[in-house]
Formats: sequence, structure tokens, C-alpha cells
Amino acid sequence: MGGMTATASRLLPLFLLLAVLVPAAAAAPPPVSVRYLADRQLFVLDGGPVTYVVGVNERGELQHVYWGGRLWRDDDLRAARSMPAFDSTEPGTNTTPDEYPGWGGGRYFEPCVKITRADGVRDLVLEYDSHRISGDELVIRAKDIASDIVVFLSYRMDPSGLLRKQATIENHTGQIVTLESAQSGAWLLPPGDGYRLSYLSGRWAGETLLTREEIHPGIKLLESRRGVATSNQANPWFAVDGRGRATEEHGQVWFGALAWSGSWRIAVEQTPHQQVRITGGYNTFDFSYPLKPGESLATPAFYAGYTDGGFGEASRILHRFERRVILPRAGLAHPRPVLYNSWEATGFGVTEANQAALADRAARLGVERFVMDDGWFGARDSSRAGLGDWVPNRKKFPNGLGPLIAHVRSLGMDFGLWVEPEMVNPDSDLYRAHPDWVINFPGRPRSESRNQLVLNLARDDVKEYLFGVLDRLVSENDISFLKWDANRHFSEPGWPERPPAEQRELWVAYTRNLYDIIDRLRARHPTLEIESCSSGGGRVDLGILARTDQVWTSDNTDAFDRLTIQDGFGQAYTPRVMMAWVTDVPNFNGRTTPLEFRFLAAMTGSLGIGANLTKWPEADLDYAAKMVAFYKTIRSTVQDGDLYRLAPPGGTLASVKEYVSSDGRQAVVFAFLHSQQYGRPQPAVRLRGLDPDAVYRVRSLDGKLAEKLETASGAYLMAHGLTFDLKGDFDSTAVVLERE
Ligand code: GLA
Repeated sequence: MGGMTATASRLLPLFLLLAVLVPAAAAAPPPVSVRYLADRQLFVLDGGPVTYVVGVNERGELQHVYWGGRLWRDDDLRAARSMPAFDSTEPGTNTTPDEYPGWGGGRYFEPCVKITRADGVRDLVLEYDSHRISGDELVIRAKDIASDIVVFLSYRMDPSGLLRKQATIENHTGQIVTLESAQSGAWLLPPGDGYRLSYLSGRWAGETLLTREEIHPGIKLLESRRGVATSNQANPWFAVDGRGRATEEHGQVWFGALAWSGSWRIAVEQTPHQQVRITGGYNTFDFSYPLKPGESLATPAFYAGYTDGGFGEASRILHRFERRVILPRAGLAHPRPVLYNSWEATGFGVTEANQAALADRAARLGVERFVMDDGWFGARDSSRAGLGDWVPNRKKFPNGLGPLIAHVRSLGMDFGLWVEPEMVNPDSDLYRAHPDWVINFPGRPRSESRNQLVLNLARDDVKEYLFGVLDRLVSENDISFLKWDANRHFSEPGWPERPPAEQRELWVAYTRNLYDIIDRLRARHPTLEIESCSSGGGRVDLGILARTDQVWTSDNTDAFDRLTIQDGFGQAYTPRVMMAWVTDVPNFNGRTTPLEFRFLAAMTGSLGIGANLTKWPEADLDYAAKMVAFYKTIRSTVQDGDLYRLAPPGGTLASVKEYVSSDGRQAVVFAFLHSQQYGRPQPAVRLRGLDPDAVYRVRSLDGKLAEKLETASGAYLMAHGLTFDLKGDFDSTAVVLERE
């Protein structure tokens, strides 16, 4: 029967071709197909280049069957069969590739759900119960073998092959069931060892640094236990390649990202039976979520995909998906505006006059959005006071924000404002009025960080208050953009108003309510745009990206450091959302780079300027205006095109990034040299993603090409390449190719 289905689906396009003479392209298989093969109890999800198969084995367990390149012949697929016991220490329950295991029976690997019932029972064995398929979504209902604990597993397949997994755990028993682990799902690789894990970690001023290491037996935990944000310390993205080792452009890569901005975990586990399982969802550390009868908990979404086109293609698949599906107003081609931000120029010392002077200069450069950062509100002259009091500081803005905003608007820019709504300084009117609104354990210290405490957004009264404050701020002022910051993580994570057994719901409820505030704010102010920031790049994940337009990548604005931070960032996230500013030198780390290097490094993402322009000489302002104008000619390609990482950031060889517009008409290449040695010239760098048969007009930004080409074929550019004439330290260049 399966064979007939396959044959029919392969013949159908032929019939169509004969009948209505549609173009041959229609013969391609449907981009997404989700189906159930009843004879083998298999669920087959096809999307673009990927097939994912889950089955129900003879014990009624959901079992992973296949994840990899697209298959077309159902006859190739065998029914799921549980594995035998290996020995007395490894029962069959532990050797079988469980798709979504409860912790129960003899299972020793990472469970997807772990419970304690009010009656003390902690055993949970999930079995297939029923399913429904609607379009691109499969929902499997699994149920405990001996109680009414039910899990709905949702699988949604995207035409890119990215599969979204999400689980909802429901308690239909008559007693409280406390969840101690609630994971979104597990991704299983073809059995074997020798896999390699790529992940992003770091800290403040050094986020999203890429590490690659072999997966060994045991568990590698990527996680945040911090609450508030995704964290600067680790990012919920992974990529795995196999023994053959993938490169940027070749080889098998399985990759994924979790959509959650609170405490999360991704456990990369190799079992004693060479099964690699990647299980992700809420962090289980300090996790406890009681479900009363009738209650449920939904996990975050966990997306993953597969390609045999290497790490570069894995990134491009994610980037396109983020732009098409995840981002608000996804699919609308509107370039990110060039932005100015005051933070590095004026710090907490913002005034109407100094902001107006910066705005004058910014407008002259072609900046489209002026953002006033920290320092504009309450008694905010340093990090010590004022957080929580979102009213303009009277001394700095005697007539409110209106006059400054009007000035900015008169210069043709829109206006953005920094806020840090989730936080409070103890020295603030808000804290004096509501000391109970912060996260705390009674009778214990309230540890401050940057002199601030975290408001308990999980409380509905706090959530409503914050929504009201922000709604008023945006309604009463002509504000187009909020830079939404969050500069510390949880400590003493208590929620004293709740019974002790429910206090740890905080880990989930905080982030959920944060999302709720942003969602409602956006719904009320549909043109408002938001940047996600958390001490630099601490809140970047697919959960926050579904409700913000861009993110602050790192407080480290040193252009050379940024190349590595941005390279890691781009593994997972589209350059469209990656904010990068040109700032003054020497930077915080003492490094001085030329203005061209700083501009070009920032242009590889969404360009901003964060320098004190009132101190810039005329020549620099003129140069900057030219660079901003140049950026506007290439920004759609950078922001919405395909990224090729041609050479990594590094030492004596140039780091090279290429972007190709989605219509193929333009490509932009950036090259950055850290330091030349021995007068050695740069080797040619071969481009990618061009049409070999097309001819491109070659436009060098600054003449730094060894070979002065006016035009070149795609074949030449991809086979021979471009040779950049870069010398000395921190030299850089850009080349634009326009298809003729
Ligand atoms: C954080 C942000 C910075 C800036 C400051 C303001 O550190 O990452 O960009 O907004 O806060 O206090």
C-alpha cells in the first residue's frame, strides 16, 4: 500500500504535465508532506531536502526511526521494532531509540518528562494513543500506561526541512502531578560514534563564540540556569556533523535551536549503545512545576533541520527560516534602518542638548533612526538609581521627551528609546512603593547586580503594571523603537506570595509573561519595533526573535573582536537582526582600528553608529556619510541574502564573508585582515553562490583588488576567485558584484 502511495505521488505530476502542460518544475515533490503509513504505524514527515520518521513499535512506544536526507519510497521504511536487552544492566527499554521518553520503566538516558505524583508515584511510561494530521502538522497523543497523564507531541514540518517539535503535558488524573522535567523533544542521530558538536558560548563582551568538539560517551550540557535571559554564557543552538566531518559547504549537518529566553537546557548525550540523543527544553535545574487536575504545561518550540551542504547551508536554512517564519512581520522586505545610539557617546549623561547635537550629526550621515540609550528617566545619573521610574528626568528633559523627539523627527529620523522594564534599583520610587515586587526569598539577602533587582514578572500585578507603563510611554510619545534591555539574571529566585510547592513555576512564568507583555505591546502599537538586548547579546534565541525585530549582539564593539562574535552569531541567526555599531577608538580593550575596518565590520550585519559624533573631524563625518550611503546600496543583500563564510576571522589570512541577494542580482564581499606578515600577499578567495554563466560588474569600494576587474563571469569568480590587496594591520575592503 505504501508502494502504491509512492507511485501515485510520483505519477501525479506527470498527469498534470500531460493534462495542463504545466512547466516541468511542477514535477518536484510537494515541499511538505506529512502522512501516516497505517500498515507499519509510521509517521513520515517530508520537508524540502529532509525526511523525518517516527514509528510506534510493538510495545506501543514511540520510537525514532529516521532523520536525514529526503526519501521518496515508502517501501524502504520498516516498522519500528524495539531493541532487545543487551544484558541485565541494559534492558530493551534503554537500548530502544525512544522518541519522547517519560522517566519510567528501565530508562537511564535523558527523559523528556519526569514526574512526581501527589501519591508518591514517580513512574511514567508513555505509549502512543492516537494522532491527527492537519496540513503540515502532526499531533501525536501519548498517554501513560497506567494513569491519565497525557502528552501531545506536535510536529510541524517546514518546506526548508526544519521541523518544529513542541510538547504539551496534561494532567487528567485526580491528583497533583509535579513535573520535574518538561522537554520539548529529543533529536536522535543515526546510531554511531565519532560525531562532532558545534555550539556557541561566551560571556559579557564575548558572546556567541563557536566551539567544535567531539561527542564522547556521557552528556554535554549546554544550558542557562540564570532566568531572565537566554544568557551571554551559552546560546540554545547546536550543530552536529559526522565522522566524515562537514566543512562550510559540504557534508552532513544536523542542527537546531530552541525558542526560549529563560533557563533552558540542551543535553547532548551519547549512550553506551552509540546513540546520540539531543534533548532540549526547560532547564531541569531547580525545576518543579505542579499541575493540578486539568492543568497543562506547554514546552518551548525546538526547531531542527538537516543538510548535506555543510555548516554554511545549515546557517542559510536557519537564516531564511527566521526571516520567513520567525521574525515579526516576517516576509515583508523592509530594510533595517541605519541607527544611531547614544550609549557609548554620552553614557548616563544624556541631556536634551547633547542628544540634539548628536542627532544633528547623525542625520547628516544619513542615519534613519536616533536612539537615546540609558540615563533619560527618573534619578538616573549612574547605574545606582532610577531604574523602574520610567518618567523623563526633569533636569535633563525639563519639557519631557517631546522637544527632543520633535527635533529628531524634523531631521527626518525616527526616534527610539532605551528601557529596562524588568529591573529596579532599590533607590527608585518604584521600589520604595513596592519592595515586595522583586524576586526574593523572605529573610534572605536580595543580592544586587549592577545595583539592581529583578521584578517578578511572573506576578500578574507586576506584569499588568509594566504593560501599562510601556503602553503609556509609547502612546504619549512619538516612539518608533524600544531597545529593551535586561542587565542581570535571577538570584534568590523566590516567589513568596505563592505556596512553596508552586514557587518554582517562576522559571517558566517569568519568561511567559515577558513574552505576553511584548506581544500585547506590539498588538497595540503595530508599527513599534523592538531590539532585544541583555547586557549585550544575552537575549538572543528563536523565542525572543518571534517578537523583536533585531538584537544587540554584544557590548563589545571592538571591530576585530566583533568579527569572531558575529561569525558565531551568524551560525544560528540571520545578519538582518545582528546589530553592529561603528564606535570610537581606542575601544574598551585598548585596540584601535581604522574607520574603514570599523564600518565594514558593522556593515556585515545591521549597521548602526554609536560614536561621539560631536567630536569627529569633518573628514571623518564626510567619510562616514559616504559609507552609510554605500551601505544603503547593499543592505538588502546583507540583511536578506544568503551568507557564505568564505574564510574565518583570524590572523594573517583575511577573513572573508560573501552575501548573495535572494534574486541573485547582487553579491557583496567583505574582507578583513588582522595582520600581514613578511609582506605576503593574500591568496585568491573563491566566491560561492553565483551563477557561473552570468557576467558580473565588479565594483571595488576602495580599489583594494590585486586584479583590476571591470567585469567577471560567475565561473571565473567561483573557480579563480578574487585577490584582495590588503596590507599591514587591520586592513579591509568590500567588493560589490552586480549581475549584468
Ligand atoms: C547594557 C546594554 C548597553 C547599554 C547599557 C545601558 O549594558 O548592553 O548597550 O544599553 O546597558 O545601561
